[in-house]
Amino acid sequence: MTELKRQILDKGDRDNTTAALQACLYDLIDLALQGKQAHWNLVGSRFRSVHLQLDEIIASVRAASDDVAERIATLGVAADGRATPVGSTSRLEGGVSGLQTVESTVKYYADRLATAISGLRVAIETLAEVDPISEDLLVGISAGLEKHLWMLQTQEV
Ligand SMILES: [Fe+2]
Repeated sequence: MTELKRQILDKGDRDNTTAALQACLYDLIDLALQGKQAHWNLVGSRFRSVHLQLDEIIASVRAASDDVAERIATLGVAADGRATPVGSTSRLEGGVSGLQTVESTVKYYADRLATAISGLRVAIETLAEVDPISEDLLVGISAGLEKHLWMLQTQEV
């Protein structure tokens, strides 16, 4: 296994930081995949606005997953984005199959978005102790996803 010559964090802090980031990376990749599943299989009278809104969320989530993966790599650890570990390790509820109404989609995707945000907030607490730069990255990501959650769940009432 190859290692970077200059490490930013000592081994203990690096392991703790990258483990927290990796847990969020699995959630974010799953969230993006489930977003496309929702985007494709939506039916109902508000199809177009929710279909397009889901793609806006997915774009944010994909950018976030890239930033988190590259932060892990920056700290000298290999990021893991393989499908099998994502499927077995993500903390989100499983994907929903079949055509889904707008109402069902807004609810189930908002639930998964909220779970990903909870995971980010747990990681933010951990990272405050060991790596404020990674903490700052996740704070920014969570702010964006929390705004998406607001705009999605306003449609439930
Ligand atoms: Fe599309």
